[in-house]
Amino acid sequence: MFRRFSHALIERNVLLLAALTLVTVSIGGLVQIIPLFAVETTIERVSGIRPYTPLELMGRNIYIREGCYACHSQMVRPFRDEHERYGHYSLAAESMYDRPFQWGSKRTGPDLARIGGRYSDEWHAQHFRDPRALVPGSVMPPYGFLDRPLRFHDIEQHLRTLARIGDPYTPEMIANARRDLIAQADPEADSPGFEQRYPRARRAVFDGNPRVVTEMDALIAYLQMLGTLVDFTTLTPDSLRQQ
Ligand code: HEC
Repeated sequence: MFRRFSHALIERNVLLLAALTLVTVSIGGLVQIIPLFAVETTIERVSGIRPYTPLELMGRNIYIREGCYACHSQMVRPFRDEHERYGHYSLAAESMYDRPFQWGSKRTGPDLARIGGRYSDEWHAQHFRDPRALVPGSVMPPYGFLDRPLRFHDIEQHLRTLARIGDPYTPEMIANARRDLIAQADPEADSPGFEQRYPRARRAVFDGNPRVVTEMDALIAYLQMLGTLVDFTTLTPDSLRQQ
């Protein structure tokens, strides 16, 4: 009898209902939010993750400019079919230097989170110039115009801005940004310390044209490193927890 009465009271009194709803929802919110103040970071550290090289960063900008995310995701979900097609599911740490992240929500084309090293640089260059020459029936548009020179006069400012909001770009990395960018697209060029600054970054003439650093160089450098930083053959749930 008492129960029925109190429920009817709550349902008929809008203010009381609102107040009690607020109390209930707040408890749920606090349970989720309070523990976050106690942890140093919500992203588990994973060895191998480094910030983007200047060339990769410019490639990433072109990826965003061209709207590649409208057709491609960068997020392998923890399902068996995705695991078998693309590889290990994506870790939060793998997009910790992505501002904004490129997880995407649409897969007209395949997921690209682990595209790095899957094809040769030449394959990518040809595929951008004429996707249907390599994949008959592909609906991906051609991007031959990316053969134009890359504009990177403001690369230092770009790194400096990212450093200001927390990316670990050192003053040395910022000072060497231009040289590092050119050196990655031209293995003949010299930039002492590049390998130490960006471990495991690959240097190559990505678009096959050594005379000029093009937008395609940057975009292919970016694609070729996606998903390659973490060594999943040695990664176990335990090693993740310890780092
Ligand atoms: C209209 C949708 C669309 C857009 C926009 C698009 N793609 Fe694609 N992409 C596809 C489709 C469909 C495929 C699969 C067929 C093929 O390989 O061409 C594909 C394939 C690819 C592949 C090969 C993936 C694999 O695993 O075989 C890469 C790399 C790629 N796209 C990169 C890009 C980049 C970079 C951009 C932006 C410059 C872009 N795509 C824009 C639809 C698109």
